[in-house]
Amino acid sequence: MLPSASDLLVWYDRHRRSLPWRETTRDPYRIWLSEVMLQQTTVAAVTPRWRRFLDRFPTVEALAAAPWEAVAEEWAGLGYYARARNLHACAQAVAVQGGFPDTVEGLRALPGIGAYTAAAVAAIAFDRPVVPLDGNVERVTSRVRAVEEPLPGARPRLAALAQGWMEQPAAHERPADFVQALFDLGATICTPRSPACALCPWQADCAGRKAGLAASLPRKAPRAARPVKYGVHFLLHDPEGRLLLRRRPPSGLLGGMLGLPGTPWREEGWTAEEALAFAPATGLSWRPLPGEAKHGFTHFELRMTLLATMAPPGLRTEGEWWLPEAAAQALPGAMRRLLTLAEATIAVASPALRAPGSGPRKRTQTGRPA
Ligand code: ADE
Repeated sequence: MLPSASDLLVWYDRHRRSLPWRETTRDPYRIWLSEVMLQQTTVAAVTPRWRRFLDRFPTVEALAAAPWEAVAEEWAGLGYYARARNLHACAQAVAVQGGFPDTVEGLRALPGIGAYTAAAVAAIAFDRPVVPLDGNVERVTSRVRAVEEPLPGARPRLAALAQGWMEQPAAHERPADFVQALFDLGATICTPRSPACALCPWQADCAGRKAGLAASLPRKAPRAARPVKYGVHFLLHDPEGRLLLRRRPPSGLLGGMLGLPGTPWREEGWTAEEALAFAPATGLSWRPLPGEAKHGFTHFELRMTLLATMAPPGLRTEGEWWLPEAAAQALPGAMRRLLTLAEATIAVASPALRAPGSGPRKRTQTGRPA
């Protein structure tokens, strides 16, 4: 039997999660922003960041007009920085068009908007009857129909099944709610490890539950092990305790974000001599700090070490000088790990190198680069 859209909507009306982008708006800008932030990032992490982003860029026009550096700073820590670059480019295209298109095809044609985001915004902001296939919907669909074919190969089939459910009149009347009901079912009942089948509005029609398979679905094709890459970064303090940061090239990993200067990242480790060819200034005597910082990217694990020194007064080098606490706010997660490593070792090894006020403090305007 087709699982009943109206049963799911009855459940949703009672048990829906109260999420800020859900309760306060049908504004496509706010919904689009929430969907972009929610890709790869949890609801709990996104909620305060979504609010803060909108305080700073309240409209798509404001975002379009903002300099990239401001967008990068506001995105820092959310990961997947190509998303922020695409977000900015998309806002500029929308501002030129005078607003968001209200169809899947129109949305899909915008820069950086893929199939998922186009469907999500079309459904949630414009009540178009389309189902975006996210991890929740994949899980619910594979279980309800006991699809044992592994992901990612099963995706087209799962998308077609979920879209089939949307064709019921009850779903067609409330596409935005139906889609969000599927998200919530996946996030709160049909959870990855131990689904709460006894509470599920679709339990009677769930083939996965009947076959005793629910918790083991969806199956996933085995992933190749992630290679390890190595990088060496430079922690250069000026006499006022500020740190040298450089903006990374616009494309590539962490593209357009601030970072500590360093070597490229490669699968072979670096000798000190090789690494020093990438130092931000010549003639300085660099001290290796103990330990390494690790950061997981989708396709590899990064291990970074640090070389540290003080810059002589008046040193001229490319980059910006930032107080450590402001740097910590503006840097992407991978680079923040280097600051954490530095904090730990510098605090122990050499109080003299420790920047004034680099402990926990309130963010201040003076922390911004001069
Ligand atoms: N995950 C992705 N988009 C979502 C939304 N709009 N509501 C809840 N969870 C989501």
